[in-house]
Amino acid sequence: MKQIISPLLLIVLSLISFSNAYQKLYVNFIPFESVQCSGNPSGIGYGGLVNTCFTFDNSRNWLFNYLEQENSISFTQYYNKGGVTELCEIKSMKTRTALIGECVSGKDLVFNSFYQSVNYDSSSSSSSSSSTSTPEIYYLIQITKDQPFIAPSSTVVSHNYGDCTDGDSDIIYYETFSNQTQVFIPIFGTVSEFYCLDNTPMAMTCDNNGSNCTNPQDQTMNCEAVSPFFNTTASDMSSGDTLYTFNNYCSY
Ligand SMILES: *[C@@H]1O[C@H](CO)[C@@H](O)[C@H](O)[C@H]1NC(C)=O
Ligand SMILES: *[C@@H]1O[C@H](CO)[C@@H](O)[C@H](O)[C@H]1NC(C)=O
Ligand SMILES: *[C@@H]1O[C@H](CO)[C@@H](O)[C@H](O)[C@H]1NC(C)=O
Ligand SMILES: *[C@@H]1O[C@H](CO)[C@@H](O)[C@H](O)[C@H]1NC(C)=O
Repeated sequence: MKQIISPLLLIVLSLISFSNAYQKLYVNFIPFESVQCSGNPSGIGYGGLVNTCFTFDNSRNWLFNYLEQENSISFTQYYNKGGVTELCEIKSMKTRTALIGECVSGKDLVFNSFYQSVNYDSSSSSSSSSSTSTPEIYYLIQITKDQPFIAPSSTVVSHNYGDCTDGDSDIIYYETFSNQTQVFIPIFGTVSEFYCLDNTPMAMTCDNNGSNCTNPQDQTMNCEAVSPFFNTTASDMSSGDTLYTFNNYCSY
């Protein structure tokens, strides 16, 4: 395992230090419910380092580039084959571009397929044939230096580079949930609501018709070791040289 991981780690390391040497740039897809991206951010936001291959859901990989002259970004989806071949090598979609500051429709931008918008349209309740319209999502595209843009009072799920003793590990990529965001999670067939209570990330989960809710649960994660880029066995993950960590916290 180690022999396979090391060269890949070096690739990521060189990408990271490359961005460090110049400027650490993050692309941010800030979520809004309005077509002008006005008002307060609402919904699930996504972002990560430019020039770095990563995945939010293990079904597709993303690579974002910043085109300084044009004041735009390009972004490309790549196949995610799972395990050690998880690199941005084979495009699965045409590269798209967007201007910095542009407000783009999220309709055909699936960053994380584990999340879908809530549609309380249970098969059992045939009476309400016209389902309540689920808000469409729009993303304001921003580039930030050194830190991603994270709206206050959001639940943040971040994947960081660096081990837990660093105290100062860099975010590689992240997801944010504005307070009280509800998401339908198809693999469970349930709806979860994410919110911050006294700076603690909480979640409450219900059936898809809003019934049978669990008690709110604390979702805090501090520096959980993960290897998002490689198929690492459990024994490797506990070997102490894991350089990637996972966090769930509230922004303020
Ligand atoms: C990950 O590695 C384990 C052990 O080598 C293997 O059994 C498993 O099939 C691999 N999973 C993927 C998705 O490649
Ligand atoms: C988020 O929502 C919860 C409950 O719905 C509320 O109690 C809390 O004050 C809100 N948090 C912030 C930071 O606005
Ligand atoms: C909600 O869905 C669950 C299972 O899907 C079902 O058991 C329950 O009766 C439903 N409740 C209502 C109020 O429709
Ligand atoms: C309510 O949720 C629990 C799990 O949280 C599940 O085991 C149970 O079957 C659900 N009840 C109904 C009526 O769907």
